[in-house]
Amino acid sequence: MKELGFNTKSLHAGHEIDPTGSRAVPIYQTTSYVFKDSEHAAALFDLKENGYIYSRINNPTVAVLEQRMAALEGGVGAVATSSGMAATLYSILNIASVGDEIISVSTLYGGTYTLFNDRFYSQYGIKAHLIDPEDFETIEKTINPKTKAIFFETIGNPGINIPNIEKLAEIAKRHKVALIADNTFGTPYLFEAKKWGVNIVVHSLTKYLGGHGNSIGGIVVDMGNFDWRASGRYPSFTEPDTTYHNLIYADLPDAYIAKLRVQLLRDTGACLSPFNAFLILQGIETLSLRVERHCANALAVAKYLKNHPQVEWVNYPALEDDQYYERQQKYLPKGAGGILTFGIKGGLKAGKKFIDALKLFSLLANVADARSLVIHPASTTHSQLSEEDLKKAAVLPELIRLSVGLEDIEDILDDLDRGFQAAKE
Ligand SMILES: Cc1ncc(COP(=O)(O)O)c(C=O)c1O
Repeated sequence: MKELGFNTKSLHAGHEIDPTGSRAVPIYQTTSYVFKDSEHAAALFDLKENGYIYSRINNPTVAVLEQRMAALEGGVGAVATSSGMAATLYSILNIASVGDEIISVSTLYGGTYTLFNDRFYSQYGIKAHLIDPEDFETIEKTINPKTKAIFFETIGNPGINIPNIEKLAEIAKRHKVALIADNTFGTPYLFEAKKWGVNIVVHSLTKYLGGHGNSIGGIVVDMGNFDWRASGRYPSFTEPDTTYHNLIYADLPDAYIAKLRVQLLRDTGACLSPFNAFLILQGIETLSLRVERHCANALAVAKYLKNHPQVEWVNYPALEDDQYYERQQKYLPKGAGGILTFGIKGGLKAGKKFIDALKLFSLLANVADARSLVIHPASTTHSQLSEEDLKKAAVLPELIRLSVGLEDIEDILDDLDRGFQAAKE
């Protein structure tokens, strides 16, 4: 059978009809699974047979989500997690431990920035080098035998910058270091990670994939295109795991995901609940339709802001004069997503008046809901960062972030008019 298209996979991948005939993916709200007899139980525990044991490690509803996401990203497997942060943490802990290092671009979501910049070293003994995404010389110079990963966000939050992904992939490949992308803002619909040389993808499923602002979740997807033996950098993949039947993970086609599931998920337990998996699957079924509307509405908003006398600047890569326009056309040709930032004239004071006057846009700490959202990152999501770190993460004091929803564009623009009117007073 020829490979199915993206929309078909969004609706069907990973789901086989069970004996009840249920057309919707059933919610298997269970902790554990009855073994046929003691021999069957022993076979499952000895890895002689595949099957379900305990929902911390796997669950049939969550498995549909994992297989669907692997299909959409073109990967070989996935592990769903309780949040996007857990996915990011696991993506690194699966390959790095005390004494190791990673390199990340500095234009990151605030939570990820703090995790890498502070928590990693103090809590896990992993040194993270956060480097300007355009400074390839420093990125390359920083790589050493302890470097286990290069990490970037497809579209930076809230810098709305698009890194030179080909260049990052070329460096990672030449040094045989795994390339990890947080594709939350890109989505598998807009950005084909595998095509551009990414090895591991993480998502906050909380955002476009769930899409309706009702469930926190995350996922790590293995593209299956990284040779864990090639460099000698990854002994935990090439030497037997004495805690798990002396398995050598590099022997498995889904080495990275298998290891993550039976080590991190089993031992530290940030698994996704079946109910959240069900809700996120409902979102994935309409991913492309929603993302197309998000892109169209956001572009209309970006053009409106661009021409507005009270606006200093706008960041939206699908605007022809945006500094990332060429990269957007190359890496995300279907659109730049629903999130944009702008600087309001009058700085923080005007920004507060603007935000407080909005009625349709909700002031809250999330993005990529079906509804329009607004926030001031410097005083909220990125408030833990020092002034210097705010600069590195591209967060200016006057920056307002909009997550443009699926409402009628006329109503969205009317609401923004209301905000600007209030900001003038
Ligand atoms: C780009 C990006 N990655 C990861 C996360 C963390 O995801 P979660 O909130 O699901 O833990 C966020 C949250 O805003 C994000 O914007």
